[in-house]
Amino acid sequence: MKFKAVLLLLLASSLTVNAQKDKKKSQIKPRKEFISELMAKMTIDEKIGQLVQFTADGTITGPVSGDNYIEQIKKGNVGSILNATTVKYTAELQKMNLENSRLKIPLLFGYDVIHGYRTIFPITLGESASWDLKAVELSAKIAAAEAAAGGVHWTFAPMVDIARDPRWGRVSEGAGEDTYLGSKLAFARVRGFQGTDLSLNNTILACTKHFAAYGAAEAGRDYNTVDMSERVLRETYLPPFKATVDAGVRTFMTSFNEISGVPATGNKFLVNGILKDEWKFDGFVVTDYTGMNEMIPHGFAKDEKHAGELALNAGVDMDMVGGIYMKQLKKSLSEGKVTEAQINDACRRILEAKYDLGLFEDPYRYNDAKREKEVIYKKEYLDAALDVANKSLVLLKNSNNVLPLKKEQKVAFVGPLVSDEFNIIGSWAASGDRNGFAVSVEEGVNKIITDKSKISFAKGVEIVDAKRDMIQNAINNAKNADVIVAVMGEFENMSGEAASRTNIDLPGIQKEFLAELKKLGKPIILVLLNGRPLTLEWEDKNMDAILEAWWPGTRGGDAIAQTLYGINNPSGKLPMTFPRNVGQIPIYYNHKNTGRPYLGTADNEQKYKSRYIDVDNSPLYEFGYGLSYTKFSYSNFKVSSNQINFSQKLKATVEIANTGNYDGEEVVQLYIHDKVGSVTRPVKELKGFQKIFLKKGEKKTVEFEISAEDLKFYGIDMQFAAEPGDFEVFVGGTSATTMKLEFELVK
Ligand code: NOJ
Repeated sequence: MKFKAVLLLLLASSLTVNAQKDKKKSQIKPRKEFISELMAKMTIDEKIGQLVQFTADGTITGPVSGDNYIEQIKKGNVGSILNATTVKYTAELQKMNLENSRLKIPLLFGYDVIHGYRTIFPITLGESASWDLKAVELSAKIAAAEAAAGGVHWTFAPMVDIARDPRWGRVSEGAGEDTYLGSKLAFARVRGFQGTDLSLNNTILACTKHFAAYGAAEAGRDYNTVDMSERVLRETYLPPFKATVDAGVRTFMTSFNEISGVPATGNKFLVNGILKDEWKFDGFVVTDYTGMNEMIPHGFAKDEKHAGELALNAGVDMDMVGGIYMKQLKKSLSEGKVTEAQINDACRRILEAKYDLGLFEDPYRYNDAKREKEVIYKKEYLDAALDVANKSLVLLKNSNNVLPLKKEQKVAFVGPLVSDEFNIIGSWAASGDRNGFAVSVEEGVNKIITDKSKISFAKGVEIVDAKRDMIQNAINNAKNADVIVAVMGEFENMSGEAASRTNIDLPGIQKEFLAELKKLGKPIILVLLNGRPLTLEWEDKNMDAILEAWWPGTRGGDAIAQTLYGINNPSGKLPMTFPRNVGQIPIYYNHKNTGRPYLGTADNEQKYKSRYIDVDNSPLYEFGYGLSYTKFSYSNFKVSSNQINFSQKLKATVEIANTGNYDGEEVVQLYIHDKVGSVTRPVKELKGFQKIFLKKGEKKTVEFEISAEDLKFYGIDMQFAAEPGDFEVFVGGTSATTMKLEFELVK
C-alpha cells in the first residue's frame, strides 16, 4: 500500500497567498480613538441598532421572524445580518445600509460555516475522529477563506459542546464526549477560522457556541433542560469554551437551554461572571436564534421587555433575530432597568469586531467578485477535503482482513447511500453543492476500478421507506460477487439541530436487507454514513467489516473508495462511545467507579453490583477505539520516576512498533486515574495524545510529560488544584487500554 503523504504544511502556507492587508488601513485612526469618536456621534437608537441582528431569507436556520429586515436595515436599526451570502447579495444589503443609514456603519454578515463553506469537509464529529489538530485547523482555515471570499465576515462555529448522548442530533456538530480532546480541537478550529490577523481578507470571526452545557440536554432531546453541579459544569463542559478564549475567539453564542433553572441567555453567573469577568473575554456575545424571546416560555421572563433586561444585565451584547433589543431596550433604559453604560459596552464590543475586520476602511472588502470566483472550490481545497475525509474514517471491525479489497475481486456495492451525492456532505453544510458536485461512493469506486465487470451498484432499499421492490436487483448482483459492500446510514437531516432520535439503530429495513444478503454466505462490508454513534450490536455480530465514514463531505466518496481499496489506511479513532443499546445512554469512558463496580463476568458476586442484568456495562465500541489495516504493538512502557512533586515533571515513554503489513498512522493516547480524591475522580481521563506515522516494520518511542498542572480538578472546596496521592497512568491505542504504571504526587 502506498500511504498518501500529506502536504498539510505546504498547503497551509499557500493559503496565505491570496490574503492581503487593506492598504488603506493606515489611514484610519487607532481603534480606541476611532470608536470613541464614532460613538460620541451615535444616538441611543443607533447604538441599540448595533446590538440587533436579523436573518435574511437566503437560508432558514430557525423559526421565521415577523420582522422585515430590509426595512430595518434602511432605518439603520441593524448591526448584523445572518444567512445572507455571496458577494452579490451581501454587497446589495451593505449598499442599502450605507446609503440609508446616517452614520454608515457597515453591516456584519454572519453564517453557519460549520465544516466548510462551499468545499465541504467531514462533519465536525467526523473531523474530530482524525485526532489531527493540523488537519482540523486547515479545514477551518479553508472554510474561512472561502466564506470570506463569499462575503461572509463571521461564522457561528466552533460548536464546542461536550456531548455524551447520541440521541441528541447535534452531536454531529461537535467534537464528541471528551473535555481534553474537545479543548484541543476547539483551539485549533478558532485558529483556523480567525488566523492570527483578522484584517486579512481570508480570515473571519469565529463564534464559540453554545454557552453552555447545551450538550447535556435531558434524554438527548434538543433544547431540553440541563441541571448539573457547578463542579461538573466547570470540569467537564466549560474547558473547551475556555480553550477558545485562550485562542483569541472574538464572539460567543449563548445556548437555548436553562442550566439549573436559569436560561443561558439570562445567566449572569455564566456570561458576565465566568466569561467576561473570570476569563476576561473581550469580544461580544450573541444570543442563539430567538434565545432571548424563549426566556418567556422557559418561565424566566414575564414578557419581551423583561427578557431584554435579563439578557443585557447578564452580559449579552447582540440579539439574534428576536427583535427585543430593537423594540424594548430604549424603554428599559428610560425606566432605569438597564444603563446607558451597558448599552455602550455592548455597542463598543461589536464595533471593535467590525473595526478589526477592516470594515470601516472598506465595507466591501469581502465583496470582490473576482476573488470569489478564484477562491471557491480551488483544487487544493478539494484535495484537502479528501485528505481530511481519509483521516476521519474509523474502521470498527475487520474480520479475517476482509479489507482492503483487491482490484481483482468482484464487488457488489449495494445500499441506499451507494450512489448518494446529496446526503454525503451532511447537515449544516453551508453553501456546499450536493447533487451533481459531491462525490458519491459509486463515483469514487469508478475512479479506481477500470475493469467495470468487477463492480456493480444497486441500492436494494431506501433509508426509511419499507418498500422491498428494489431488493432483488441488488441480491442478484450480490450473488455474482466475491464480496458485498453495503453503504447505509441515516438521512443527513436525521442529525443536526432539532433531530433527536430515541432509536439509533440503522433506520428503515436496512438491517433486514443486510440479513438477506448474509444468507448468500459472502463477506459483507458495511460502510456507514451517519451523524452520530448508532447502535450496531447485530451488525457487529453479523458483518465481516464495518467502516464508520460519518458524513465525509464533498470528496467523501473518494475517501471511502480509497480506503476500501487500501489507497488510504484508516487511522481515525472514535471521539464518542458507541453504546450497545439506547438503554446504556449516557455512556462515556471517563465515568466514575461507584461503590459497587462490576468487574465483568469473572466477578463472583454478580448481583449487588452496578450493572444491568440484560446487557454488559461495556460499550460496543469505546472512545478512542479504531482499527488500522496494519498492527501496532506497544511495549517498554516506562515512567521516569515513581514519584514527582508539584514542580517536577514525569516522563512517560512507550515504544510502538508497526508489526503489520502496511504503513499507517496510530493515535497514541495517555490517560490518568487519580485513585483517591477529596471528591471522587473518573476511572480514566485523557491527558495527552500523539498521532504518529510508522512505516511497515518501523518502531518509534513516544514521550509524554505529566505535571501537577495536568492533575488538577475542582476539589471539595471548589479550588482547582492537584491533590497529593497515588495515580495510575495508562497508554494505548484506545481508552480501554490496560497498559498501566503508577506514580505518586508528593508535596
Ligand atoms: C440555531 C442554532 O442553534 C445555532 O447553532 C445557529 O448558529 C443559529 N441557529 C444560526 O443559524
